[in-house]
Amino acid sequence: MSKGPRRLPGDPPRDEIIARMIRVDQAGEYGAKRIYDGQLAVLGRSAAAPAIRRMAEQEKRHLAAFDRLIVERRVRPTALSPLWHMAGFALGAATALLGERAAMACTVAVEEVIDEHYRRQSEALGDCEPALKAAIEDFRADELEHRDTALAHGAEAAPGYAMLSAAIKAGSRLAIWLSTRL
Ligand SMILES: [Fe+2]
Ligand SMILES: [Fe+2]
Repeated sequence: MSKGPRRLPGDPPRDEIIARMIRVDQAGEYGAKRIYDGQLAVLGRSAAAPAIRRMAEQEKRHLAAFDRLIVERRVRPTALSPLWHMAGFALGAATALLGERAAMACTVAVEEVIDEHYRRQSEALGDCEPALKAAIEDFRADELEHRDTALAHGAEAAPGYAMLSAAIKAGSRLAIWLSTRL
């Protein structure tokens, strides 16, 4: 048991664990890209636009890496792409319509969930799949930067911050759960 992610009896085999990681991460980065697309559709000419665009560019890099891994490792992509396509954009646009700070509150909530998700994956990988682990750690650092950027743009001053944040986190965790399996 020195190699590979820690397993419990009844857990799926190692290859399936890795495939699930790549599937859910590709889905998540796709969702992130769509959230920023939605934000920019509303806030493309606002003062926050340059910051949002910078974060969106980094999401594109994350997504490209997982798109590549899906092909290289022959992982079945999530069946829920059409859902994330719409839900991501809708979440980004809807929060942006509430205002710049609500859009930033959305970013903080999503990035906190992704940070936790990537941290768990990185831990589970242990010392196997070093390249995948390095990518996850690299992207996780970007996500934490996005969270800090959003906090600096007044996320916590958004009206109804606590409720908005809790709802978006619950939705993000559900999306992760679904994309791991479907
Ligand atoms: Fe990302
Ligand atoms: Fe991000």
